[in-house]
Amino acid sequence: MELTKVINDVEQLRDEFPLLHQEVNGYPLVYLDNAATSQKPFSVVESITNYSLGYNSNIHRGVHHLANLATEAFESTRKKVAAMLHTTDVREIIFTSGTTDSINLVAQSWGRKFLKEGDEIILSMLEHHSNIVPWQMVAEETGAVIRVIPVTPKGEWDMAAVDQLISHKTKLIAVNHVSNALGTINPIEYIIEKAKAVGATTMIDGAQSVVHFDVDVKKLDCDFYAFSAHKLYGPTGVGVLYGKAEVLEKMNPYRGGGEMINTVSFDGTTYNDIPYKFEAGTPNIEGIIAFGAAVDFVNSLDGEWVKQHEQELLAYATEKLKSIDGLKIYGEAENKVSVISFLVDGIHPFDLGTLLDNQGIAVRTGHHCTQPLMNHFGIPGTVRASFAIYNTKEEVDMLYNALVKAIAMLK
Ligand SMILES: Cc1ncc(COP(=O)(O)O)c(C=O)c1O
Repeated sequence: MELTKVINDVEQLRDEFPLLHQEVNGYPLVYLDNAATSQKPFSVVESITNYSLGYNSNIHRGVHHLANLATEAFESTRKKVAAMLHTTDVREIIFTSGTTDSINLVAQSWGRKFLKEGDEIILSMLEHHSNIVPWQMVAEETGAVIRVIPVTPKGEWDMAAVDQLISHKTKLIAVNHVSNALGTINPIEYIIEKAKAVGATTMIDGAQSVVHFDVDVKKLDCDFYAFSAHKLYGPTGVGVLYGKAEVLEKMNPYRGGGEMINTVSFDGTTYNDIPYKFEAGTPNIEGIIAFGAAVDFVNSLDGEWVKQHEQELLAYATEKLKSIDGLKIYGEAENKVSVISFLVDGIHPFDLGTLLDNQGIAVRTGHHCTQPLMNHFGIPGTVRASFAIYNTKEEVDMLYNALVKAIAMLK
């Protein structure tokens, strides 16, 4: 489906997402788990079907018609992603299986080569496990040391600590742009500047940012930027790693196989150019092609409207939830996206999540893969409602009413 007009109306938008129009447990579905994965518009699903039914073929290696069609569609997604991130160099876009895979690529290919004993890796208390564990693995191997930026009670970085932590020992700063657990938008511009001043490399986990606002990797001037397609209206199993060409050129691939080589003999192998030297094996071709349709979809949206709509939902939902007795919101940063994490006095988040589901409302409960942050707050987890472009104020009202009912049952 060609999306030619600019979409800036929620009802028009909801028509693009058939999944939203269903009942769960006898109630209209209210999908508020968008930070975990967003829903896919028609055009993305159609793109998967078109490939599977029309030109299913492996890419790059064939000379036949179908292989050419598939290769062209696959590489056109790379161009679209490059344009989306504001780089003109398509070699800087590497396809991976997701944010986790992208971060592991940097940890293994860059970290193992450039980190040594005593070097410092700076992470923050807000990180998702996928931006902690790969660094712990590489730190263990290289003798590098992990330092952690603490957070304030509002869920923002402690900026005095940021200034103190960064030193000539800092070799890498790996932080998220937006916190998945709290919604905080972190001042990554500031930390990238600080990193550059001491010659440190920067890896930004953008899993939660690209869906909410425009990201310009050239303006940011970060070395790496990672995100997943499935949180941006695209398919699962597809991710992106942006890396500065000059940095990627210096890295060795960490996964070997087909596609990533120039020549192979038993005397030795020479590697392909970037980005292909990091893309070993047959990728998720249909997923990457369909991700191109997701980027087209994002381009069809009015960016200012998206921001305004999501911020209105955030403000409205925050006000409503705060009026509930005993409800505490975790994460009250000045700058945040449309994510609300909360707990209700004396009620376990799982119980609340289950009773919300009974009323058709999908939220996420638990530690959100941020156990260090939950431990810091001294809580087992939270209930997280995360809003996307297709959510409405009526759905916020439904969340509120369902919550009031659930709390009355559980108290
Ligand atoms: C901030 C952040 N980083 C990394 C990830 C991991 O993404 P994926 O599971 O798609 O690799 C997520 C997923 O929730 C996330 O929110």
